[in-house]
Amino acid sequence: MKMNNLEKMAMNNPFRAAIQRHVEIPLLEKLGGRLDGLNVLEVGCGQGVGTQAIIEKLGAAKVTAIDLDEDMVQRARKRLENYSHDRVDIKVGDITHIDAPDEAYDAVVNFAAIHHIPDWQAAITEITRVLKPGGRFLFQEVTARWILRWPYRSLFVHPMENRFSGAEFVAELERQHIIVGGHWVEKAKGDFIFGSGTKTATQHATA
Ligand SMILES: C[S@@+](CC[C@H](N)C(=O)[O-])C[C@H]1O[C@@H](n2cnc3c(N)ncnc32)[C@H](O)[C@@H]1O
Repeated sequence: MKMNNLEKMAMNNPFRAAIQRHVEIPLLEKLGGRLDGLNVLEVGCGQGVGTQAIIEKLGAAKVTAIDLDEDMVQRARKRLENYSHDRVDIKVGDITHIDAPDEAYDAVVNFAAIHHIPDWQAAITEITRVLKPGGRFLFQEVTARWILRWPYRSLFVHPMENRFSGAEFVAELERQHIIVGGHWVEKAKGDFIFGSGTKTATQHATA
């Protein structure tokens, strides 16, 4: 589900960019390690700040970034126009139908996109499918506790059914062969979660 104009204003600004660069990326690095030399998929890239940080701060060799919204893809492409196609490929794409072969990526990174998806469990199935065995999934997500609050509900547009707590999100990852263990934290009393999991099995998860 795409963002409405108000949420775009909340996400496409220097404050959000600074939080992502200086708070979220270091926390994900602490939980999941660096991505030096890896072939990475970023899902729901938005304005592309995370895409750039995955290369510049986490050391990825290449990032393919997808977003459902053509407007966000254009913004991200503009931000990263100086990078060669060998390093950055930004395109319209749906996390629930990723246009890539099985086991295509060494790592997948998600900054706050999965809570936009009605069937978020299907998104995890797709992420598991495109991850190599041993590949890492780094995530930052927004839980039901935040989404279902009235200001957020009234101003922004999100799926309201079938939302998740941090523990439910992690349990679903593990059910689908991405093992998180203790590598996750809650922030703001559980409104936000950050973590990292590793795909252990070669078999594909069942939705
Ligand atoms: C809250 S924004 C986060 C953007 C960016 N990752 C950030 O942290 O600033 C969620 C993004 O996910 C995208 N999105 C929502 N559903 C999607 C889907 N099914 N496939 C790909 N992207 C999706 C939206 O268009 C939006 O850009």
